[in-house]
Amino acid sequence: MSEAPFRIEPLSDHDRSEFDCGVDALNAYLARQVGQDRRRRMSFCFVAVEQATRRVAGYYTLSATGIELSDLPPDIQKRLPRYPSVPAVRIGRLAVDQRYRGQRLGGALLFDAIQRTVASDIAAFAVIVDAKDDIAAAFYSHFGFQPLTNKPLKLFLPIGEALRELAFQRP
Ligand SMILES: CC(C)(COP(=O)(O)OP(=O)(O)OC[C@H]1O[C@@H](n2cnc3c(N)ncnc32)[C@H](O)[C@@H]1OP(=O)(O)O)[C@@H](O)C(=O)NCCC(=O)NCCS
Repeated sequence: MSEAPFRIEPLSDHDRSEFDCGVDALNAYLARQVGQDRRRRMSFCFVAVEQATRRVAGYYTLSATGIELSDLPPDIQKRLPRYPSVPAVRIGRLAVDQRYRGQRLGGALLFDAIQRTVASDIAAFAVIVDAKDDIAAAFYSHFGFQPLTNKPLKLFLPIGEALRELAFQRP
């Protein structure tokens, strides 16, 4: 059986210097800031590595957060206990190198983030993402994410729905 072309794993000593997703801030974060966030336990980073070359083809970051109950749409609020906030996991950044676009790697990174959240022993109601612009927001909407009330670039996906949405799109 042939090896999968990419493997998603926690960031360690990977060479990140050539990563280029076309967005300077996301490139700079991976090149220079990611280690500091990891050491301070602000977020952890996972990378998609091309098996043949060991190149970093994509990455995302994951951290714990909360969602104000009042930021959720009323129909979802109705189904939840009246706690001021609900637990969530945040994908702060997600990017694919321009050379590897359109190979379902972005979707695979999203799927991996949700899988890790589900596999954790810590409860989270939803995954939440920070989209950098409308184009990024459209990418997340494609996977069933919806915006928080009055926050079009902060989108969430309840974990239960995430599992249903992503199961049939599994790479
Ligand atoms: C957004 C990004 C991660 C997508 O990566 P990718 O590997 O090319 O995307 P995939 O191949 O996994 O696409 C999966 C699906 O999403 C769709 N898609 C991709 N980008 C999309 C967008 N901006 N809007 C709507 N749908 C999009 C694809 O058409 C594909 O659909 P299909 O499954 O029906 O074929 C990549 O373009 C990127 O890194 N952009 C720059 C950084 C960025 O904007 N990050 C987002 C968070 S800030």
